[in-house]
Amino acid sequence: MKKNILITGGAGFIGSHVVRLFVNKYPDYQIINLDALTYAGNLENLSDIDSKANYTFIKGDITDLAFVSNLFKNYKFEGVLHLAAESHVDRSISDPLAFIMTNIVGTVNLLNAAKECWANDMNGKKFYHISTDEVYGSLGKTGKFTETTSYDPRSPYSASKASSDHLVRAYFHTYKLPVVLSNCSNNYGANQFPEKLIPLVINNIKNSKSLPIYGKGDNIRDWLFVEDHALAIDSIYHDGKIGETYNIGGDNEWTNLDLVKKLCDIMDKKLNREMGSSQRLITFVKDRAGHDQRYAIDASKIKKELGWKPSIQFEEGFEKTIDWYLQNSDWMNNILSGDYEKFYEQQYTNR
Ligand code: NAD
Ligand code: DAU
Repeated sequence: MKKNILITGGAGFIGSHVVRLFVNKYPDYQIINLDALTYAGNLENLSDIDSKANYTFIKGDITDLAFVSNLFKNYKFEGVLHLAAESHVDRSISDPLAFIMTNIVGTVNLLNAAKECWANDMNGKKFYHISTDEVYGSLGKTGKFTETTSYDPRSPYSASKASSDHLVRAYFHTYKLPVVLSNCSNNYGANQFPEKLIPLVINNIKNSKSLPIYGKGDNIRDWLFVEDHALAIDSIYHDGKIGETYNIGGDNEWTNLDLVKKLCDIMDKKLNREMGSSQRLITFVKDRAGHDQRYAIDASKIKKELGWKPSIQFEEGFEKTIDWYLQNSDWMNNILSGDYEKFYEQQYTNR
């Protein structure tokens, strides 16, 4: 009999890559993708696998405890990969409550449902919480976040993720719930919602619109190709030790300004534009409140213990990503026009 595996947030950016990997790689799993289809959820991200027999989509909200408990009773999940979240720092600054509800309350609902469902037999079960490097705070010029770096979240988003990480660990220590966690750096690749820096910049370069850089553009992020994150998640879900945390990162630090300039240059070449013309679109705008200066991940634990390492270097990853957005302008246009939300309303209101 197939094992039922729950993936939450599978219609989002990273979740869609994880769902695709698991559906294609593990025919013995029935992958149940639970997603509320918020503004960030887009089933177009999964159109290539949605008719596969080992894939089931369920529209639902993790903040609804009764719904989540019933789902666990019906499907008796063997494992959970929890990615559903409010994920954008800027939105968390203007509306923190949505982040508290989904990222904290939603996570506790899943933990409670798993605890109840697995009460008589925790053997072989796993609750995997996918989290962010932002929980560690902000670095100066040197150093990297390790798994033992103290938590110091500084935005409502990172505080909500830190809180959910603590709760997941509390369920391990208090109730012996078999959990595993990972904290990853910034992802880039196909299907990322265009509120985030890289897809926003690619789309604006394409349309010759201004490229907003917060502050001086000297903040640093450590970028990882999303498919490498999905592979790390696969490895941690299957081989990660219960109770442990793994940091995931790309060893690929860029200031925002250098990153945007790099994207400009690649796109000038691809679009046969005068070299340097896209860089002239760069516009320095008001800084993000409480903007973290630098993130960098020390991923030596996952490399040493699980044998994972990033397989795509940044030149290849940036090229692939730009090509994907240029070749999928319908995906972007549907999002920007809001058509995708109408599509879901029609398809899923009667389920
Ligand atoms: P995303 O915003 O693209 O996707 C989030 C998904 O969760 C969407 O499909 C959305 O519909 C769904 N969702 C939101 N609220 C929900 C709710 N209440 N119930 C059910 N579904 C809900 O996010 P992402 O960038 O793919 O991030 C996925 C996870 O990975 C998050 O937990 C995030 O904190 C973490 N993460 C992201 C990055 C990154 O660079 N994007 C890096 C490290 C960790
Ligand atoms: O580090 C992991 C985190 O990376 C994830 O946990 C988050 O879910 C994800 O959104 C991402 O957070 P960031 O805030 O780093 O990503 P964002 O793409 O919003 O911004 C990247 C950097 O670019 C950041 O320093 C802010 C800056 N920026 C962003 C936007 C949208 C700009 O300068 N201009 C912009 O228009």
